[in-house]
Amino acid sequence: MKTINVKDWAQDEHSGIFPIGARDKQMLWAPEKSQKPIKSGTPYLFKESIRSYPDQFWAEIVAYIVGKHLKVDVPVALPAITKIDEEIVPGVLIEWMYQPDNGNKSDEVEKLIHAGDYFKQIFPEFDTKSGKHHNLNDTILLLKIFAQHKVIAPDYWNWLSDMALFDALIGNTDRHQENWGFIFDKDGGRLSPLYDNGTGLGHERFTDKIATWNDDTFHRYLNKGLHHLRKNRENTHDRFILFELVAFIAGNKELEKRMLNALTTIDLKCMLTEIEELTQVDNPTPFTAERFAWIKRIITTRYDILRDILES
Ligand SMILES: Nc1ncnc2c1ncn2[C@@H]1O[C@H](COP(=O)(O)OP(=O)(O)OP(=O)(O)O)[C@@H](O)[C@H]1O
Ligand SMILES: [Mg+2]
Repeated sequence: MKTINVKDWAQDEHSGIFPIGARDKQMLWAPEKSQKPIKSGTPYLFKESIRSYPDQFWAEIVAYIVGKHLKVDVPVALPAITKIDEEIVPGVLIEWMYQPDNGNKSDEVEKLIHAGDYFKQIFPEFDTKSGKHHNLNDTILLLKIFAQHKVIAPDYWNWLSDMALFDALIGNTDRHQENWGFIFDKDGGRLSPLYDNGTGLGHERFTDKIATWNDDTFHRYLNKGLHHLRKNRENTHDRFILFELVAFIAGNKELEKRMLNALTTIDLKCMLTEIEELTQVDNPTPFTAERFAWIKRIITTRYDILRDILES
């Protein structure tokens, strides 16, 4: 793998600089005749790290590799650099996950609508700023109504279980109401791929600080990882622990089987090798061996805990 230089890529004329979210990002178009793995003439999102964690963008790339091995729908994410005001800026380059409006073929245009927009419509008191009303009960209700009205396919529980399992495996605490949604085309809708996966994998810990953590400290840290989803709208503090959400969904035996099957069919060795290869990528903010060791400890321990939950 190589760091892709996107400094000469064209910014999208409508949403060149991106208004939504916490980090600086741009919508860019890959040049025609780009080489693999870049798809020629298609749009990408270039996203920088959060300022306090300069190597955070690697978490999004690792999350993509994990998602690929888990066989859940996650957009391709690659290391990239650009130049802003004469400064080289590293980040992650993410395949655009739907067909945007590029001025022609209007019947092919797709649109992403965040789940939060619907929650706000249905429950006007929904606090989209803090997301404190984002909860599983209302999520299930929304998906059920959409499926009944044939807005989405009836297998939405599969999407929910994929989301819960993937988030628990990478320790993603940020699946808020703007980090999932629906993609609409002229015929109907579907649930979005799982995007914005950089807030996990221990990205907020500096590797020199955690090097001395013993197993107890480490397990306490993992067990504190919360999903963004609350259990219901009323108790805005009661968030699912990431593992707890998986256990809850596994109450359905079919879904338990689906999740266990997804985990057991991962070739862990192969997945970790692919992640470790990122340490060889030339980049101004490299993926260090220490970062890899930390992420490996997180993924393998989370994996074991999840298997225990699903096998018990
Ligand atoms: N692969 C993608 N293709 C198209 N649009 C995307 C893609 N990824 C993200 N977006 C859109 O861009 C918005 C911001 O991106 P993203 O959520 O990844 O960034 P963020 O700054 O980390 O957000 P947050 O504030 O949630 O941390 C998303 O809410 C979504 O609307
Ligand atoms: Mg986001």
